[in-house]
Amino acid sequence: MNQTDYKLLDSQLHALLDDESDALAATSNFVGLLYNAIDDINWLGIYVLRGDELVLGPFQGKPACVHIGLDEGVCGAAASTLQTQRVADVHAFPGHITCDADSRSELVIPLIVNGQLIGVLDIDSPEPARFSETDQAGVERLCRTFCALQEQRKNFI
Ligand code: SME
Repeated sequence: MNQTDYKLLDSQLHALLDDESDALAATSNFVGLLYNAIDDINWLGIYVLRGDELVLGPFQGKPACVHIGLDEGVCGAAASTLQTQRVADVHAFPGHITCDADSRSELVIPLIVNGQLIGVLDIDSPEPARFSETDQAGVERLCRTFCALQEQRKNFI
């Protein structure tokens, strides 16, 4: 497994999104860029906050569960605590929702725009303990870039 170059990825993200005004297009390309740049993952996507639940948005990977309550799974924990969840073994996480049986570890990052939660970025890996502190910091940086650019748009998906 190669260590992801998050600094390079951040500049690629700016190149892709800086001039894009459409939120759905920008979000879809955010997901596409990360999915293809991070090794050993089997699912990466956005769950969007809709009312009091998370709803499936742009993603890459197998079809996944569509509705997740804020008290459900790793995604719900990230959304309700506003804290990144880095889970080394999803089978040991109480209430983990299995979408793809191959998933063994997971990284979920809350997306906060103008001080408001808009959703979460969810990344799954078939490798146990796939995500290091470096990965967490790198993906959090990319999410900050995505959210800062999102603040300039009027809408979200
Ligand atoms: N594993 C997640 C559910 C979403 S899928 O992994 C795509 C969870 O427990 O929140």
